[in-house]
Amino acid sequence: MRVIVAKTLEEMGKEAGAIVAEGMRAKPHYVLGLATGDTPKPLYRELIRLHKEEDLDFSTTVSFNLDEYIGLPATHDQSYRYFMDHELFNHVNIVKANTHVPDGMTDDVETHCLVYEATIEDVGGIDCQVLGIGRNGHIGFNEPGSSLASRTRAVDLTESTIEANAPHFPNPEDMPRRAITMGIGTILESEKIIMLACGPKKAAAVAAALEGPVCVKCPASALQLHPDVTFVVTEDAATGLTLKFRR
Ligand code: F6R
Repeated sequence: MRVIVAKTLEEMGKEAGAIVAEGMRAKPHYVLGLATGDTPKPLYRELIRLHKEEDLDFSTTVSFNLDEYIGLPATHDQSYRYFMDHELFNHVNIVKANTHVPDGMTDDVETHCLVYEATIEDVGGIDCQVLGIGRNGHIGFNEPGSSLASRTRAVDLTESTIEANAPHFPNPEDMPRRAITMGIGTILESEKIIMLACGPKKAAAVAAALEGPVCVKCPASALQLHPDVTFVVTEDAATGLTLKFRR
């Protein structure tokens, strides 16, 4: 796995943006896998800049988001559809119909997850999947203990994830306890993967993912099984790594 250690959040966004843009410019109908949360915001700012200043074209881009809370409508400001619209989609020329986020309000979760997987397959799979990492090593909402072969499904969130995300809700009690997430097996089928991480709270998870054993205790360790993964992390998230991974 390749590791890029960035000095600032802006640099993290630019490094990751360059990889995404290179793929998009090389292949029309590029299929992006996208994450929400605080970490990918610098990347989305960079992609918006590249669109506005360097003609990065999203008109044929297709996207699939990793996950969504069960029970939140797209209009809720903590829903991941709302996040994506506001942080990226509304600012570039992507066709909204080509953007996919799991529907947290579906009344048939199982069928919805099967259709989500089939839709990814129909467009030829994900070319580049962007990931963030949970403090507990989760990717998407695949919490520790998830099968490394898991597919898109409904999951219960762990206390660690609830503690990390509940403060974003005006009333923390309102944070959903369940979500739909792509599986680890789904993520590993992407052609290329970019893992972003920043902040000291992610250092242990980043070290476990890169240098620990491949095991269900750290779902992100499954990325060691993939042939094309780049970690783009800030210095404070890289403190647990040995020298061989530092740039
Ligand atoms: C979000 C997602 C999660 C986050 C992770 C880190 O779509 O899949 O795995 O990437 O919880 O979240 P932040 O970036 O807010 O620290």
